[in-house]
Amino acid sequence: MKSIATWFFGTGALFALCGMVWGIQMSATQDHTLSPAHGHLNLIGFVAMSVFGAYYALTPRAAAARIASIHYGLVTAAVLVLTPGIVLAITGQGETVAKLGSVLAVLSMAIFVFVVLRHGVGATDQMRAEPHAQPAE
Ligand code: HEM
Repeated sequence: MKSIATWFFGTGALFALCGMVWGIQMSATQDHTLSPAHGHLNLIGFVAMSVFGAYYALTPRAAAARIASIHYGLVTAAVLVLTPGIVLAITGQGETVAKLGSVLAVLSMAIFVFVVLRHGVGATDQMRAEPHAQPAE
């Protein structure tokens, strides 16, 4: 099974690919109306996802914790709900989906705060926080 860091980076790169194609389409048509949705797809979908992926690659004990996959699922859901939600809001079709996406995005960042405080950053920090724990395989 692929590591959680691979899932974060792989999904992030896929979101970036979609966001870039969308950016090219906006440039080609000179219609930038949906640029905030494109911006959020790229920034949460690619930049934040990659930051999380780098963190889990650096911090094996956090990557091994069950909450890491919950975190991954929540960030992915946030991008998949928030991006169309912003499109709907911009085109005057209601803000409910965007609001739901925002809540998912905030929750996923709150999980990251918890994980960083719980496990620290990197293997050394982890051993300092949990001196009696067995080192990761
Ligand atoms: C092929 C690559 C890309 C193309 C062709 C592209 C194209 C565009 C275009 C045409 C706009 C609208 C500009 C305006 O109306 O002033 C825009 C806005 C934006 N893009 Fe991209 N983009 C690309 C990649 C990215 C990436 C990788 C990121 C972030 C990591 C990003 C983040 C943003 C942001 C934050 C905005 C502003 C959104 C807003 O006005 O609310 N873009 N992009």
